[in-house]
Amino acid sequence: MPVNLKGRNVLSLDGFSPDEIRLLLRLAAELKSAKLAGTERQRLLRRNIALIFEKDSTRTRTGFEVAAYDQGANVTYIGPTGSQIGHKESMKDTARVLGRLYDGIEYRGDKAEKAVELARHAGVPVYNGLTSEDHPTQILADFLTMREFTHLHLSDLAVTFMGDIRNNVARALALGAVKMGIDMRLCGPDALRPDTAFIAHLGEISCETGGRLTITADVSEGVRGSDFIYTDVWLSMGEPKALWKERIEELSPYRVTPQVMFESGKPHTKFMHCLPALHDTETAVGAEIASEFGIGEMEVSDAVFESKASIVFDQAENRMHTIKALLVATIDG
Ligand code: CP
Ligand code: NVA
Repeated sequence: MPVNLKGRNVLSLDGFSPDEIRLLLRLAAELKSAKLAGTERQRLLRRNIALIFEKDSTRTRTGFEVAAYDQGANVTYIGPTGSQIGHKESMKDTARVLGRLYDGIEYRGDKAEKAVELARHAGVPVYNGLTSEDHPTQILADFLTMREFTHLHLSDLAVTFMGDIRNNVARALALGAVKMGIDMRLCGPDALRPDTAFIAHLGEISCETGGRLTITADVSEGVRGSDFIYTDVWLSMGEPKALWKERIEELSPYRVTPQVMFESGKPHTKFMHCLPALHDTETAVGAEIASEFGIGEMEVSDAVFESKASIVFDQAENRMHTIKALLVATIDG
C-alpha cells in the first residue's frame, strides 16, 4: 500500500511503521539535495505553523523555522512566557484556538500528555519537539545522518547509546532503532535502566522487525562492534541541579573517551550527540561544574567531540532537513 502521512501527528516514532520512517528519510534526503542544488519546490506556500517551546532550544526551533521558510510557510514562536498557555488557558482550549489558525503545531515541554491533548483537539498535525520521555524529530535526523556515513542499511548497523540510558533521547533512539532492525545497545549504570514496561515494549517491536536490544552496564560489551556511539547530557532540561553530584558519580565511567571509541574495534566508528554537549568549560554550566566538581568534560571528552569521528554537526544540520520532510509529508501529503 502506498504510504501517505498527510494529517498525521508526530508524537513519537512509536506510531510509525518502518516503511513510513523510510519514506520520511527518503523525502528528507531529496529535500536536502534539492536545497543544495537550488531546485527546491515550495510545497507549503502560505501555510502557518505554531511553535510552542516551554523549554529552551537552538536546533529544534531553528530547524522548524528554516524548514518552514524554505517551503514558503510562516511560523509563530510561542515561548515559555507571553501567552495564556497553562496558567489561564488549558491545552484543550489552546488546541482549539491554534487549530483554527495554523496548519501544524510543534510542542516542546515536559509532559507528553500535553502534546497528546493538543493533538486530540487541534485538528491539525502536532509534532513533539521534545518531551521528558521522547524526542522523535531528533531520531529522524540521526537516522539520516547514519545513512550518510555508512554504505550499510540501518538494519545492518550496531548503535550504542552511552550514559543516561533512560532519558528522552536514549528512549527515542532505542525505540526507533529496534523498529528499523538495528542492533541497539543501551550502555549505562543499572540505577538508570529504563522502566521494565518500556523494555518489554522494545522487545515486542524487536520480535516483529528483527531488531536487537542489549542493556548493559559493561562499557566493553556495550561498544564492541558498534558503528555509532551516541551520548547525551547527564542532566536533562527540567531535572534539578541537585542531581549533578550523583549523576557525575554514576556516569563518569560512561564518558565517551578516545579509549571507548577504540574499544568498538572498528576503525570507522562515528561519534554522535544530539547537542548541546558539555565537552569543555566554555559554557556557563561547564564552567560551574568544573569549579564545583573539578571536571572539565562531562559526557564526552573534548578529544572525541573535536575528532574526525565526530558527526555531531551533520546531525544538527539534518534536524532541519528531516523536520522539513515531516512538515511537507504531514501538511502537503
Ligand atoms: N538536539 C536538540 O533538540 O537541540 P535543541 O535543544 O537545541 O533544540
Ligand atoms: N536529554 C536532553 C536532550 C536535549 C536535546 C534534554 O532533555 O535536555
